[in-house]
Amino acid sequence: FGSATTLVQRNPSFSTLNSDDMNYFKGILGEKNVIQDEDRLSIANTDWMHKYRGSSKLLLQPRTTEEVSQILKYCNSRFLAVVPQGGNTGLVGGSVPVFDEVIINLGLMNNIIAFDKVSGILVCEAGCILENLISFLDTQGFIMPLDLGAKGSCQIGGNVSTNAGGLRLVRYGSLHGTVLGLEAVLANGDVLDMLGTLRKDNTGYDLKHLFIGSEGSLGIVTKVSILTPPKLSSVNLAFLACNDYFSCQKLQMLLLTRLAGNVNQKLLVEAKRKLGEILSAFEFLDNVAMDLVLDHLDGVRNPLPPSLHNFYVLIETTGSHESYDREKLEAFLLHAMEVGLVSDGALAQDINQASSFWHIREGLPEALMKAGAVYKYDLSLPIEKMYGLVEEMRTRLGALAKVVAYGHLGDGNLHLNISSPQYDEKILAQIEPFVYEWTSKHHGSISAEHGLGLMKANEIFYSKSTNTASTHRSVWTGATNGMYKEIAGPQKNT
Ligand code: FAD
Ligand code: MLT
Ligand code: ZN
Repeated sequence: FGSATTLVQRNPSFSTLNSDDMNYFKGILGEKNVIQDEDRLSIANTDWMHKYRGSSKLLLQPRTTEEVSQILKYCNSRFLAVVPQGGNTGLVGGSVPVFDEVIINLGLMNNIIAFDKVSGILVCEAGCILENLISFLDTQGFIMPLDLGAKGSCQIGGNVSTNAGGLRLVRYGSLHGTVLGLEAVLANGDVLDMLGTLRKDNTGYDLKHLFIGSEGSLGIVTKVSILTPPKLSSVNLAFLACNDYFSCQKLQMLLLTRLAGNVNQKLLVEAKRKLGEILSAFEFLDNVAMDLVLDHLDGVRNPLPPSLHNFYVLIETTGSHESYDREKLEAFLLHAMEVGLVSDGALAQDINQASSFWHIREGLPEALMKAGAVYKYDLSLPIEKMYGLVEEMRTRLGALAKVVAYGHLGDGNLHLNISSPQYDEKILAQIEPFVYEWTSKHHGSISAEHGLGLMKANEIFYSKSTNTASTHRSVWTGATNGMYKEIAGPQKNT
């Protein structure tokens, strides 16, 4: 399935594995980290959506940067293609082999190296699972600047390599801002030590940024240094219903101005100086998405019955003054209801209720998987145009498939998902290239946060000019000589 797979041919310059290769890998990694077991390979060959499947015969699990370096140096000299793999939660077919590439999984490189409680800088190995980092930081009074539904499996190296956005980007910005340093191994085995912890360093090119979002195309990220924000004591979560998309949009504008504007000015200036903005998430889902979650996830209920609403918005605030933050949010909600932007709403009364609200939003990818086949699009679009695409798609598809919309509204990021019982070329032909053309016409991006992967490697031209795309290719060729990963995100496959 998928438009890209049919366009890609195995690069004939890559060799195939032989017994000398196996012996070499066993020599450096030991028998147990050279995996040829069919069941384990089958899992590593298949992506989270069960949409992309490779046929690798070998999974390697290095424990150190030195081992990663030895593996890559050897593969490079032998013309063996590789694919770096983290938690394998990627949604664009970039984390699994396209053909028979050697899978290099970072899962055993999962040590926290250092944490500085004064600066909040965490240094760790790339294979650390995001949720483990979140739990560790919780004990230190800090949080990770990113959070996403896949936190239980995805690794920080995978997050960096996809430049994952998630639920807190509206507050803490992208990893381009919070990642302070990286260690990475190039295709030829050279180790790049860019693991700085400085906030400022203007000594030439800041090469780490090339690795953030490069989807493993330039090398393997082995260590990460990241700035983590302090954990604030007061978190409030509202689950709201709006009758139309325009209200969701206006709500956002109102929120950004009103949350701060309604309070005593002196306090406001103080709050801005000391606490920053309290908005920490602004997510939305439409009623089709809500029904999907209710139908497919156990124990979920709509906090705002009866479910006659067209749109739902989740607003989270995070600050350090409980009564003050709560009051601000309540005043804002009251106003939004008075002016008719919100038709109903609930404020989480405790942590259990808050996690049940979040479960509705975070459970959407899983609900879609349970519903059958999913055609997943992750788009950046001007907020005022965004829902127009959803409506046009519904008109195009009619009864052929369900169009499910949700996303990070605060970041202008729509997750457009088309759900049907099974994959069908007829449906795909209605969606692509229409969805990419529409996005390009409205000056959006065909990948807001998931990357290009195998799915969109050949579609980069919808979002990048010819010169820009060919510069991507030069960077990739310069770093890898083209002999490394079969196909990986920001390189064009021609
Ligand atoms: P993988 O899936 O293993 O790999 C992803 C890509 O990075 C591949 O191209 C791989 O080759 C490369 N890679 C992995 N590790 C390394 C490394 N150490 N060095 C070099 N390259 C590497 N994404 C978002 O942006 N926001 C979300 O809110 C979000 N929510 C999600 C929710 C669910 C339920 C799921 C399943 C996925 C979600 N994702 C989201 C998508 C996904 O991109 C992220 O889950 C995550 O960043 C991928 O990390 P991973 O460790 O699983 O990487
Ligand atoms: C999300 O925001 O839930 C993730 O990006 C996953 C998805 O788009 O389904
Ligand atoms: Zn997302």
